Amino acid sequence: MIIEPRTRGFICTTAHPDGCEQGVLNQIEYIKSKGKIESPKRVLVIGASTGFGLASRITSAFGSEASTIGVFFEKAPSEGRTASSGWYNTAAFEKLAHKEGLYAKSINGDAFSKEVKEQTIDLIKKDLGQIDMVVYSLASPVRTHPETGVRYKSSLKPIGSTYTNKTVDFHTGEVKEVSIAPAEGDDIENTVTVMGGEDWEMWIDALKKENLLSKDFKTVAYSYIGPKLTEPVYRNGTIGRAKDHLEATAFKITDKLKDIEGKAYISVNKALVTQSSSAIPVIPLYMSLLYQVMKDNNVHEGCIEQIHRLYTERLFLDEVPTDEEGRIRIDDLEMRDDIQEKVAELWEKVDTENVMSLSDLEGYRNEFFHLFGFNFEEVDYSKETEEVVKIAGLQ
Ligand code: NAI
Ligand code: NA
Repeated sequence: MIIEPRTRGFICTTAHPDGCEQGVLNQIEYIKSKGKIESPKRVLVIGASTGFGLASRITSAFGSEASTIGVFFEKAPSEGRTASSGWYNTAAFEKLAHKEGLYAKSINGDAFSKEVKEQTIDLIKKDLGQIDMVVYSLASPVRTHPETGVRYKSSLKPIGSTYTNKTVDFHTGEVKEVSIAPAEGDDIENTVTVMGGEDWEMWIDALKKENLLSKDFKTVAYSYIGPKLTEPVYRNGTIGRAKDHLEATAFKITDKLKDIEGKAYISVNKALVTQSSSAIPVIPLYMSLLYQVMKDNNVHEGCIEQIHRLYTERLFLDEVPTDEEGRIRIDDLEMRDDIQEKVAELWEKVDTENVMSLSDLEGYRNEFFHLFGFNFEEVDYSKETEEVVKIAGLQ
């Protein structure tokens, strides 16, 4: 089968298995080139198939020879349809991990459900006994509550008033104004229910109840702050309320882990092209300018560079460096004054005519296609792909 990208707005409905493998391989090579990392050896990653979660799994496995269990929600290939990219990423990850004798198993299903938590608990009991770290990296637009069965939808809306700013259609390069109506009804609560900390806490409670957390256990969840520019739609919007809740949950979990000297952390990460972030209006234009400025200053990072820095310069130090709210900051380079001043200056000028020269829209697009396994130089896309039909333990 010859697979080509088929896009609809900010989603791509096809994915390329060889390209996804190349993306995973590139991340593994980066981690290996950086040498050994001292970090936990039995790691559960929730949201392990793409973005920051995949980068965390790769960093643990290939940096520290950790045994990893990955939980995610991805589509297997079926008649006439490719799998989702996270499925191919995991197929490649497991293949490459097993080749090096590393333990790696995956659970494909709804992490919010009781069933997937039970399945994970059984697998840990059977194979690992206990775990030393949980990385919580879910990004989902919906959540079915495990106790009530009610399905909640999150939204990306400002709070209080309509927000109008520039945005870019990253396929066509058209820069135009977008207006986003404010949250109404239950939008805020629903977004907090989906993307806040309740499910993270439920995971830790469920694992702890079964005595599956080792002494000095650590857990980390990812958050975002971003610049003034995107505040109305991000940090001060509905998603920001969910992040406030997630961040508050870290303290709650830490309290519950006192007896095993465990700790929950928040890491505030940099804005990066992932399937989740391309869905937020205004952000892709901000990111295209940010990429340009960070590349010009030689401080650009992708998910893997970010997580490598989290592991080697923050999370596992005796004294974990945090901000005054107790959060780890690896968005420090994005938030540097000189970087933000330059982005703000370009923001005023950017339009459809100059977007290609002022911003790194080209780089943004390229990374968008990389998410789905396209645009890798190393891959021959004219070659028929062999469908990856079955991977041990992964349906
Ligand atoms: P992503 O879309 O690349 O990854 C989301 C992961 O969650 C995937 O593995 C997916 O399979 C899994 N998932 C979604 N729904 C699920 C469900 N019901 N059950 C099981 N697995 C499910 O997202 P990304 O961007 O890596 O986000 C991860 C975290 O990092 C989020 O909390 C996000 O807010 C945060 N973050 C993202 C930034 C960005 O710019 N992309 C910046 C800073 C933080
Ligand atoms: Na450019």
